[in-house]
Amino acid sequence: MHHDTTRLAIDFNEEDSNTSSNPAFVQVLETRLNRRSLFKGAGMAGAALGATALTGCATTGQAGSTVQQLGFKPVAKTTADRVSVPEGYTAQVIYALGDPLTGNTPAFKNDGTDTEWGARAGDHHDGIEWFGLDASGQPSDRFASRGLLAMNHEATTDEKRASFFIHANGGTATLPRPASEIDKELMIHGISVVEVQTDGKKWAYKSASAFNRRITTMTDVALSGPAKGSEHLVTRYSPDGTRARGTLNNCGTGRTPWGTFVSGEENWFGYFHRDAKDDDTRKKDKQVQALNRYGRKAGAASRHGWESGGSADTYARWNNSALGASAQDDYRNEMNTFGYIVELDPYNTGAQLVKRTALGRMGHENVTFDRVVAGQPVVAYMGDDARGEYIYKFVSDAKWDPRDAQGANRLAAGDKYLDKGTLFVARFKEDGTGEWVELSMKNPVIANSSYFEFKSDADVAIFTRLAADAVAATKMDRPEWAGVNPKNGEVYITLTNNSNRTVATADSANPRVYTDLKGSKEQKGNVNGHIVRLSHGKPTDAAFRWDIYLFASEAGADKATVNLSNLTDENDLSSPDGLVFSPATGVCWIQTDDGAYTDKTNCMLLAALPGQRGDGSTKTLAYGEKTVTTHVGKPPSPATLKRFLVGPRGAEITGITETPDGRAIFVNVQHAGENTAMADVNNPAKFESQWPANAGYGAGQRPRSATIVITKNDGGVIGT
Ligand code: FEO
Ligand code: CA
Ligand code: CA
Repeated sequence: MHHDTTRLAIDFNEEDSNTSSNPAFVQVLETRLNRRSLFKGAGMAGAALGATALTGCATTGQAGSTVQQLGFKPVAKTTADRVSVPEGYTAQVIYALGDPLTGNTPAFKNDGTDTEWGARAGDHHDGIEWFGLDASGQPSDRFASRGLLAMNHEATTDEKRASFFIHANGGTATLPRPASEIDKELMIHGISVVEVQTDGKKWAYKSASAFNRRITTMTDVALSGPAKGSEHLVTRYSPDGTRARGTLNNCGTGRTPWGTFVSGEENWFGYFHRDAKDDDTRKKDKQVQALNRYGRKAGAASRHGWESGGSADTYARWNNSALGASAQDDYRNEMNTFGYIVELDPYNTGAQLVKRTALGRMGHENVTFDRVVAGQPVVAYMGDDARGEYIYKFVSDAKWDPRDAQGANRLAAGDKYLDKGTLFVARFKEDGTGEWVELSMKNPVIANSSYFEFKSDADVAIFTRLAADAVAATKMDRPEWAGVNPKNGEVYITLTNNSNRTVATADSANPRVYTDLKGSKEQKGNVNGHIVRLSHGKPTDAAFRWDIYLFASEAGADKATVNLSNLTDENDLSSPDGLVFSPATGVCWIQTDDGAYTDKTNCMLLAALPGQRGDGSTKTLAYGEKTVTTHVGKPPSPATLKRFLVGPRGAEITGITETPDGRAIFVNVQHAGENTAMADVNNPAKFESQWPANAGYGAGQRPRSATIVITKNDGGVIGT
């Protein structure tokens, strides 16, 4: 989805209700799936993971060298309902919504009657990461023909609360919603791990693999880091505030230098209901300020009405109101258990999911790790994706020990590097410099803040946005994915767009304010987004320098005010979102989640060979009396930025990972057909998209989010 947060805040007027039902079936299925562990006890000890492809660092995979040029013909913009890739390449669907994850789960019928959702692929595939296996099923980063794909299932295609494509007749739009519909919807969100392999000709996923796993909104998770045990995490489910249930709206992903999967919880707040009188009930509770800041004003309606399913905890937890005598008696703090980076060991189906609170609570997109250096802290970068939010950096207390890249207990390495450290937020200056400002009780601006009462670093971890407000960080145009260029360590962060950017708030790092037409509709602000780039001496330095690598734009837009990067038909784009540097080739892959240029083209994937910060010039934009000076990177040419793929109708292209040899890439296609009307759920002729059924994949015609694999017909390295 395009994550315009207003969509999640639509106000519904129907009343809350309390029908009862039994959610036991979903829990039983999930337990069955999660308990099955290939690795029993020490069986997984010693599993070797070379650091090569896992660190995102300058070492290359078997492809051997960083590519110097992009050796494919660009794909034309199109609104066709298919996946288009360059000549000489093949895209194949391998894993879609509803696909079975056990050997005895029935095949997916795709007509809204399917059950056992805890044992099927979830919806809205998003960030994705490869974790290799050798022939005997041991973790390996060297073999390129067998591995696990860990991925996010961010959300679902809905209208008026109901995830209509998974219900036979579209589901119930009014409150109370039937528990039977909610039980399905609770299961299609979260994370999946699925085994894939190739016979040298064709890739396929393995439905009966013992590695397959689902994490959903119902999975028991551990809270870790400074907020563990905080009074603000106490719920009826966890009276001591050390555990929580589930992960939600997982968007971007990352891979830690020690070989685990990390995932950001993004637009979780929209799933919660708050009673209209909740501010009064809470009296002077400082959380009223925090709830407002995090997007849940009193009276806010939830996206799906899950709280209306009955009095059982399964449903009651989605009402984030103070209803009981204390926090131990209700779910007034349930929202505080979401908004984190979560860590998963994809190789160990018995390992618990962990929420790493030290990395802050926000609308997390992805997390990307800087190149690790022995004896130096581990550094990670993150964006908070909402209009006017911030860019963050985390620096571990522990110094990197290369032996941890191959450790047997990967989550213990996560404890070591991700539970103790310092969070910083970025402040950009007009002269092209910037600083990372510390967010902790050691910063007197926070410890003595009159803006919000911070009592401890637990408060900073939970109310991170308020801490960043307090230090006057720079409000950005929706920070999405961050990526580190393996060549030089520069950090790229996509800023997807910002309809709220005005001349009054335009600044050097967010300089564009303009009007674009979509048909006859006027779109305003920073319509198409941009990509900012940071360089530093050492990743731990407080100072950085920045420029804007790329201004996204339509090729035909004015070159003096909008198309500042001189984009052409071969490479114009709107709303950059996913951004991943290939460890194998160094290619910078850029993906779009766009709603602005979709009258002319579906969303896309581009390949880039960027230069370096400061390779361009300074430009001044005039807005009447006001001028804004910015720093623009050297404009790309059609040789250094090219469109590689265009997706089906209504889909965003999001998440990309590769085999260590760079010869196969896996890309997620999210929410094809999302603009279909719920009333047409059984009228395929009116679907916005029938992908991937129209590509020959699976039963039925309802559109499905899916993973595709792309290979070169001559077996070569992708992009070269
Ligand atoms: Fe889920 Fe910010 O994209
Ligand atoms: Ca336009
Ligand atoms: Ca995204």
